[in-house]
Amino acid sequence: MKVAVMASGMGSNLAALIDATEQGRLAARIVLVVSDKADAGALGIAAKHGISSLHISAQKFPTPAAFDQALLEAMQEHGVELIALAGYLKKVRAPLIDAYRGRIVNMHPALLPAFGGKGMYGRKVHEAVLDYGCKVSGLTVHLVDNEYDTGPPVLQRCVAVKQGDTPEVLAARVLEQEHVAFAEALQYFVEGRVEVNGRQVIIK
Ligand code: GRF
Repeated sequence: MKVAVMASGMGSNLAALIDATEQGRLAARIVLVVSDKADAGALGIAAKHGISSLHISAQKFPTPAAFDQALLEAMQEHGVELIALAGYLKKVRAPLIDAYRGRIVNMHPALLPAFGGKGMYGRKVHEAVLDYGCKVSGLTVHLVDNEYDTGPPVLQRCVAVKQGDTPEVLAARVLEQEHVAFAEALQYFVEGRVEVNGRQVIIK
């Protein structure tokens, strides 16, 4: 299965997915890495592994629609079948979302629907979890719909919150699990085991 990874940040999830493909835990080929940020670590990781990459930002296009169309065309040109959002901070819109409905997944570093939504990314998520006094946090791999973090979960995993945690310490503990869980979730798609029935994502 041909996978595209979209990322705005350092790209540790991308690196973990590449490792998983190399180790055979993920029977897929990452054919394209897309970033809206020219200095995203993910672009460097793609280059190091000889993966095609694209820095594409809305500012380069006359209209948002032209940008969205270019994104879709890039996916199609590379024969992309599944899209993994690994710290991609922009909203994915039509026509990409329509063309790939049920085949775009996002990694969120908390247990949705808590601590998600617009603006809830990175450190802010873990800070909010700690401020609330949660005893557990975790991660959610979910299907992407038209809103931020509202699509149905494909896989969730819990991570303990420990006394004295800082946002950074908690983020690192969650990230470690993200790196394992993302490949697992994508492998469900590769194996054709994902069935969507409304909000229920059934893993056959
Ligand atoms: C991860 O915590 C992921 O859950 C979130 O953004 C972060 C990306 O980290 N969506 P990285 O760029 O993969 O290192």
